[in-house]
Parts: sequence; structure tokens; C-alpha cells
Amino acid sequence: MRTTSVADDDEGISMSTPPTVLVTGASSGIGKGFATRYARQGHDVVLVARRADRLDALAAELENAHSVTATVVSADLTDPTAAETIGEHLDREGIEVGILVNCAGFGTAGPFIEEDPARLADEIAVDVVAPTLLTRRFLPSLVAAGTRGALIMVSSTASHQPVPNIAVYAACKAYVTSLTAAIWKELSGTGVRVLALCPGPTDTEFFEAAGSDRFKVGRVGTIDEVLDAAFAALDRGGDPVVTVGRGNRLQAFAAKLAPRRLTLAVGATSTTRAE
Ligand SMILES: NC(=O)c1ccc[n+]([C@@H]2O[C@H](COP(=O)([O-])OP(=O)(O)OC[C@H]3O[C@@H](n4cnc5c(N)ncnc54)[C@H](OP(=O)(O)O)[C@@H]3O)[C@@H](O)[C@H]2O)c1
Repeated sequence: MRTTSVADDDEGISMSTPPTVLVTGASSGIGKGFATRYARQGHDVVLVARRADRLDALAAELENAHSVTATVVSADLTDPTAAETIGEHLDREGIEVGILVNCAGFGTAGPFIEEDPARLADEIAVDVVAPTLLTRRFLPSLVAAGTRGALIMVSSTASHQPVPNIAVYAACKAYVTSLTAAIWKELSGTGVRVLALCPGPTDTEFFEAAGSDRFKVGRVGTIDEVLDAAFAALDRGGDPVVTVGRGNRLQAFAAKLAPRRLTLAVGATSTTRAE
């Protein structure tokens, strides 16, 4: 873990300083998009992922383009101690996180009986354990940021129902959506905005990392569509669970109403056809 640059702010954090945003999964795709949008809005950013070369390049680009401070923390989120290590590192650097975007994640696909147990353990570590412990670690500083604080958990449309052939991924994301909604309720009155963001298939490196097209069920959207939906939802407030795209929202609604056997049959067919 290392830091490329941390600005010393002699005047401390004033109420007019936009809160620092920590983004996991900032080396690629949706996380990189969040980091870029927030930097464009004048927020300092903390960029977390494993690929330090990519994070360094993004940090340099954001610092040059937007005059913000971008701090790189290279960390492997399969490590159960990562949240605490990142937290201690930022404490030492005097960086207080007011907005947390838990975006790092990956999926596994295929019949559950054929899945590699070690990869499943990593998936649960990155998709479930890390966002849970990072949220627990940083929630006090998010609450301290009050109405300027926010928690964004990047979940998935797969969280709305069990999905055969991506069973563990869908279960991980169901956990994320459930956890986020409960935290939203617990934080009511604090001013902190809380969002479980549920994109459908989106054009990133996700499918390549998964080594499978089984996730490409339906239309593949853009990163900008996901970010637009997230920022609109944060501005709007209200429901803590936001599904990106009208077609995906319809599917999520149908999954709530349909008998489980039907939902499972549709899920099995779609993930088989997409392969
Ligand atoms: N793309 C989609 O279709 C889609 C749809 C719904 C939800 N999502 C969710 O959106 C989020 C972002 O995915 P994406 O689409 O942007 O995919 P992506 O382009 O593959 O980005 C995944 C990010 O997660 C990071 N990551 C993976 N394993 C990690 C580890 N062990 N430690 C630290 N960081 C790790 C990667 O960084 P390093 O490899 O550098 O570590 C990368 O920055 C994920 O949570 C995903 O489940 C994606």
C-alpha cells in the first residue's frame, strides 16, 4: 500500500470543502467513473484497487485536470484486514473520508457444482466482506460529514432475485442491497445519503474479469448511464435502492411479484443463453 500524494491543508477541513471520496475499484469501469466525476466536482479522492499503475495514472490525470488531491492506496480486498489497514493508513495521513463508494467487485459464473472454491472465497471476500468492513470502518466519518456525507454501495440487478449459473454473485449482491437498505434506515436523521446502486449489464472490464458472458443478460448499458442514475438518485433522495434503466426496473418489479419457480426458470434460461 502506498500514497502518491497527500496535500497538507493548513486550514483544516472547513464546511465549504467538499468531503473526500474513497472509491474502491477505481482502476477500472464504474469505480473509475465515480472517481472521475467526484474529482470533476472538486472532491479530493482516495483511489483503491490492486493495480497501482492504473491508479497512479488516474491520480495524475485527476490532479492535473481538476486541481484536487488524489491519494492512491493499492490494496487487495480479498484480505480480510484490508479495511482496517486502509483506515489506519488514512488516519496517519490525516485524511477524513466523507463519502464512500464501495464499487470493487467481480463475478463468477457457471453451474455452482463446477465453481472453484478458492475463487468463490475471493468473490465473497471482495463483494461482501470488504464493503461491509469498509462501511463499518468509515461510517463514523460519513456521519460526521452530515448532509455532505454519502455511502454508495454498487450492487446489481442480480441482487433482486436468485440467479442460477451466477448463484454466488447474485447472493453476494442480494446481501449488499439488503445491508445498504438497513443502514439507510439506521442513518435516517443523520443527513447521510445512502444508496444501493443496481446497474444491469454495463460496458466495463467486468465480463473479461469474470471470463464469462453469462452476465450479459439484456441490453449492455454505459458507465455514464450508471453514474447519471446514481447522482440523480442521490439528489432525489427517497428509495435507498436504485435500479439503473427502465427495462431493468421492470424486471426487478416483475421478480418481486412472480412465483419463485418462474423467476428461477427465467434466470436459468437467460444465463444459459447469454453464454
Ligand atoms: N459491468 C457490469 O455489467 C456490472 C453490472 C452490475 C453491477 N456491477 C458491479 O459494478 C462494480 C464495478 O464493476 P465494473 O463493471 O466496473 O468492473 P471492472 O471494470 O472489472 O472493475 C472492477 C474493479 O474492482 C476491482 N477489484 C477486483 N478485485 C479486487 C480485489 N481483490 N481487490 C481490490 N480491488 C479489486 C478492480 O481493480 P483491480 O483489478 O485493479 O484490483 C476494478 O477496479 C462491481 O461491484 C460489479 O459487481 C457491474
